[in-house]
This record gives sequence, structure tokens and C-alpha cells, in this order.
Amino acid sequence: MESFRSLFSSLLIASTVLSSAADSSAIHPRQDNAPLVTWNGKQYRCKCYSTDSCWPAATAWSTLNTTVGGNLFQVIPPGAACYTSFKGMNTYNQQACSAANTGWTKEDWQADQQVTNMWTFWTNNTCNPSAQRQNRECTLGNLPEYAIMAKTKEHIQAGVKFAVENNLRLLIRNTGHDFMGRSTGYGSLAINTHSFKSVTFVKNYTGPGNYKGSAVTVGAGIQVRELYRQAAQQNPKVVVVGGECPTVGLAGGYIQGGGHGPMASYYGMAADHALSFDIVSATGEFVTANAESNPDLFWALKGGGPSTFGVILSVTLKTFPEVPTAAVSLDITTTDQTKFWKGVAAFHNRANLYVENGMFVYYELFSGRLHIQPFVGPNMNKAKIESVLKPVFDQLKADGVSYTSSAREFSTFFDMYTAMFEDESAGFSGLVGGRLFTKKDIAENGDKIVNAYKTAAGGSGGLGGGMQGIIGHIVGPGYGMPTADNAVHPAWRNASSFSITMTGVEGNAPLSQKATAQDRLTNMIDKALRDASPNGAAYVNEGNLEEPNWQQAFWGSNYPRLLEIKKKWDPNGVFYARTTPGTEDWESIQYNTKLCKKV
Ligand SMILES: Cc1cc2nc3c(=O)[nH]c(=O)nc-3n(C[C@H](O)[C@H](O)[C@H](O)COP(=O)(O)OP(=O)(O)OC[C@H]3O[C@@H](n4cnc5c(N)ncnc54)[C@H](O)[C@@H]3O)c2cc1C
Ligand SMILES: *[C@@H]1O[C@H](CO)[C@@H](O)[C@H](O)[C@H]1NC(C)=O
Ligand SMILES: *[C@@H]1O[C@H](CO)[C@@H](O)[C@H](O)[C@H]1NC(C)=O
Ligand SMILES: *[C@@H]1O[C@H](CO)[C@@H](O)[C@H](O)[C@H]1NC(C)=O
Ligand SMILES: *[C@@H]1O[C@H](CO)[C@@H](O)[C@H](O)[C@H]1NC(C)=O
Repeated sequence: MESFRSLFSSLLIASTVLSSAADSSAIHPRQDNAPLVTWNGKQYRCKCYSTDSCWPAATAWSTLNTTVGGNLFQVIPPGAACYTSFKGMNTYNQQACSAANTGWTKEDWQADQQVTNMWTFWTNNTCNPSAQRQNRECTLGNLPEYAIMAKTKEHIQAGVKFAVENNLRLLIRNTGHDFMGRSTGYGSLAINTHSFKSVTFVKNYTGPGNYKGSAVTVGAGIQVRELYRQAAQQNPKVVVVGGECPTVGLAGGYIQGGGHGPMASYYGMAADHALSFDIVSATGEFVTANAESNPDLFWALKGGGPSTFGVILSVTLKTFPEVPTAAVSLDITTTDQTKFWKGVAAFHNRANLYVENGMFVYYELFSGRLHIQPFVGPNMNKAKIESVLKPVFDQLKADGVSYTSSAREFSTFFDMYTAMFEDESAGFSGLVGGRLFTKKDIAENGDKIVNAYKTAAGGSGGLGGGMQGIIGHIVGPGYGMPTADNAVHPAWRNASSFSITMTGVEGNAPLSQKATAQDRLTNMIDKALRDASPNGAAYVNEGNLEEPNWQQAFWGSNYPRLLEIKKKWDPNGVFYARTTPGTEDWESIQYNTKLCKKV
């Protein structure tokens, strides 16, 4: 069955910094070079934009280009090839247009671009490719002005320094997976980390901390399927905790948000296994963070938020032994609403059972269609996974719900992953939200959660045909890894189900329509999920940008410490991603364009 994903598919800077005094003395931060702006009766101090006189002169960009080895590019959206012109240049090119139009829905193609986003809403959809020639000019929308296609850490350092000294909005772009649009930003200078593809496996880790087992150092640009493949080529084969999505980056936004995936119930969150990070800090310094060097930063990088504390160059992670893995798929498709929702309840109300057996489940839920592919049973054979899931199938039979299902066993996790996880696609425009449910929520409020799912997965929802639904995960990282000293919301340790909600809306829709969609997502769909889960939380990587009380929802009791660490390592807000620690004073004014601080 085809996957739905094919449709949308200042202070004391730590000792390491001070030790590289030669570099730090070279940086001259500016924050006051742009004009004061008044917006809705309030005064703001903004980053410097291309329409301001503070914008760097052509010669300055050219010098930067030399410093970064010719890897600086003025952004021309790939879709421009389908339009008459862009910034006054004739851009129409039938072949390039056709290539962009074909690539647009492919995650791999998107990941390889300088700056596009797979989930296009936040770019404003101003230069999307199309099958037919568009007889008009296209514009950048919210895509960056310039991009550094960084090849070395020095390129990243140069980019950070240039942004800091010129007060530019700095953006970090890895694969462009961010559902919440945080790898795009109006008027910005982007640093693209996608070419950092180095991977080194070791049998015995010798770095700081108590851990002595096997480990892997992963460059920022590595995507999970390529990492899983390399892990499966080691002798003995090893497993890395990464995402379910084959093309998501591991060391970028993913691990900084915490990182769940097919082995997360069995081994824990990705961030639980980080041993060391190499980063470029807000002052452009090269900094290592681990149990001995800069332990505060180390703690924060493990789940404290994407693009918040530095540009990650690489992360070293524990690896684990391969295990035989079983998998089951289950599909329920019916127009009989009563039967359908009985089926959903039979499945979802048993979330605790699955995670207590170390299982992970990926599923998609739309009105009348539940597609579960797969239930993952680490360290299980076919007979074992069938016996764990027997109560679900007994219930479906008792309730007269018809379904299709199959079970398989594999000698490794990697074989299971390759066979059972479906490729995903890109190019969908919409807003996302989400909710994490704890075991207590499932046990006490299971039916209420399923009822809330009816709201979340209900039809086209009067949004001009915009579809809505749930991308669901049964995941309980507390099973294999009861405690871990990191910034991940403590509620994850009690989790048994995590759902992404989504609602379709065009990025070039009128503001009022965007506002209506956002309101509906936050105050109706996500509200129903929140109300059904008093012990739940939310996930910063796959959440709602308008999440009420987001600091608490995304980090719980870890937030105050994260805020302190942000103030120490990036007091001036060089790094910015919406709803991450320390961004309270910042706002994208003038219809989500200029990033500014209230004065
Ligand atoms: C189809 C799909 C499937 C997904 N599956 C999973 C999953 O299984 N598990 C899960 O936990 N999440 C999943 N996610 C969510 C994913 O973890 C986040 O979108 C994550 O932020 C993506 O990181 P990225 O670096 O690949 O993407 P990008 O969009 O390039 O970056 C995302 C964010 O991280 C920042 N960032 C990127 N690189 C760096 C860097 N080197 N240093 C510092 N900051 C950086 C960016 O500025 C941005 O804020 C999925 C998303 C999609 C679209
Ligand atoms: C940077 O230099 C390279 C190589 O000379 C060139 O192709 C590119 O266009 C330059 N970038 C800018 C922004 O001028
Ligand atoms: C993005 O779209 C909104 C309308 O939805 C518009 O107000 C805004 O100016 C656009 N911004 C850019 C940079 O295209
Ligand atoms: C790793 O450590 C183990 C036990 O400490 C030891 O037996 C093994 O030989 C070491 N392996 C390598 C490759 O050094
Ligand atoms: C996790 O669950 C335990 C037991 O119900 C509870 O005491 C604890 O407060 C929960 N932690 C969080 C962060 O929800």
C-alpha cells in the first residue's frame, strides 16, 4: 500500500573558548547597526537586511567568498528555472525546470539543495517548481539571501564570524527536514552542513567519561540510512539509534531535539548516547563538549534544541550490538466509522504493552485509514512478536473489524529497516503540531485520546480541502534507558506514544487563511490531544510553533538550566530557531520577515 508520506511527505565563556584567544580577539560583534523599527506600536532592533545600509557591500561578500574557498552562493531557488525571471535575471530553462519539478517530491534531491525545505510552508512557496512554465518573476520568499556550502570547519567559523560582525540573521541548514520551518529564514545567511559526511567507527571508545564500548563519530551531514548501512558493514555489525526517516540528518536538528526512532524503545533516545560533540560556537570558536570539556554545553546539546548553542560539526555516539528483529504490518481501511475507530482503539490503547516489550511502531492515521508499518520487535522472532500482539488481533476479531496484516522476521535490525520502512517524499505544504502521551495517559485516558484522534484525523476539515491527519509513533525510551543525564524532557522517560498532527495549507495563502489554519491546529486539534493527556508533553522537533507554554511543554523541569546555558554560550542570539531556549525576546515582525528583538 502506498504510504501517505508520498503526499507530503558574555560572561564567562568556558575555558576552551578563552584558550583560543587569537580567534576570539578577532571578532567584533555588531547588534546596533540596523535602524530601529516600529511595528504594531512597539520598537524593535532587528538583524541587518539587504534593504538596510548596514548590509555588507559586494566587496565584503567577495572577501567572505575567498575565505570560504569559493563556496559562497547568492541563492537562486531551483524553482526559478520554471519562471520567466528572478531578481531581474532571465531564469527560465526547460530542462532545469523539469529536473527541479521531478526532484521536488524526493527527499534525497531536497536534502542535496543549498536551502530548500521538504515541508515547504515556511518558505512561503514563492518559487516552487511546476510542470508548466510560469510567465512571471519569482521571489525568494523566506529562503536565505546567501548560502555557504561549507566544506571545512574553517568555512563554518568564517560564516559565523561574518554574520556576527555584520549583525546578519544566521541560519543553519543541513537536510531541510525541519517540519517547523527552522532551516529557512527571511533575509539570512545560511551555512549548509550537508557535506560533512565523515563517519568513523571504533571498537573501544577512549574519550572522556566512563564509557569504554563501541562508538561512532558522525559528521553533521550524515543521514540515517547511510549511517545504518555503514553500521551494518562493521564486523561485528552494530546498531546506532537514529530516526525512522531514511534521509533525516543525525547530528543536526535531530539529536539536538532528542531524537526518537525504531530502536528508541529498546535502547533509548539518540541524545542519550552522545559521548562528545565538536561545534563552532557563537563566537566562531571551535569547541569540544563532553563529560570533561564544557560539560554544561554537552548536557544542553543533548536535546536542548536545534540551532541553539552552536553549529554541530560532528557527534560521537555509543553503538550497540545488532539484534534479530521482527516486524508486523497492519492496515485497517473502512468507511464504517464505528468499526474504524474501534480498530484504532484496539491498537492505540495497547501502546503500553508494546513499549513494555521494547517495541516501536510507526503509523499513519487518516479518516477511514490506519496504516501501521511497521510494529518493530527488537530481539524478537516472528512467533514472539505475534504472541505479544495477540491481544490486539483478538480484539479486532471480537469487534468484527476487518484488516490486513503480515508478520516477518529478520536476522538483523538493518535488514528489517531496509525491508519494512517505506521511502518518504517531500514537497508538501502544511502546519504541524503534536503531542507525547505517557503510560499513565494511555492507561487512564486511552479512549479520550482516541476521541481526540477523531478531531485530528477528521476529513478535510473545512480548510479549503487541506488534508489533516496524524503521523504516529509508539515509542517509550524509558524501557531500555530509564535515566540519562541530558536536556531531553523528563516526560520522555514515561512516554509510550508520540503523535505528529498536521493540517494542509499553502505557503502562499493569504495571511488570514494561514492564521485560521494555525488557530485550528493549536486551539482545536492539538487542544483535544492536550486535554486528553494531562501527563503528556510536546517534542521540539515535531511540535507546534504556537504550543502554549512551550518552554514547559518541550523541556519541563530542564528549561531553567537550558536558559542559563543559552545565556552563557550565546547571549546575543547569534543562533535562532523559533521555540528554542532564550528566544523569548525575539520576534519575526512584518509578516514573518525581519527577525528582531524588542527594545
Ligand atoms: C519525513 C520526516 C521524518 C522524520 N523522522 C523523525 C524521526 O524518526 N525521529 C525524530 O526524532 N525526528 C524525525 N523527524 C524530525 C527531525 O528530527 C527534525 O526535523 C530535525 O530538526 C531535522 O534535522 P536536520 O538537520 O536533518 O534538518 P534541517 O531542516 O536541515 O535542520 C533542522 C534544524 O536543525 C538545525 N541544524 C541543522 N544542522 C545543524 C547543525 N549542524 N548544527 C546546529 N543546528 C543544526 C537547523 O538550523 C534547524 O533549526 C522527521 C522529519 C521529517 C520531515
Ligand atoms: C564565489 O566564488 C565562486 C568561485 O569563484 C563563484 O562560482 C561564486 O559565484 C562566488 N559567489 C559569489 C556570491 O560571488
Ligand atoms: C509571505 O506570505 C505572506 C502572506 O501569507 C506575506 O504577508 C509575506 O509578505 C510573505 N513574505 C515573503 C518574504 O514572501
Ligand atoms: C576492547 O576492550 C576489550 C575489553 O576491555 C578487549 O578485550 C578488546 O581486546 C579491546 N578491543 C580492541 C580492538 O582494542
Ligand atoms: C513519570 O512517572 C512517574 C510515575 O507515574 C511520576 O512520578 C513522574 O512524575 C513522571 N515524570 C514526568 C516528568 O512526567
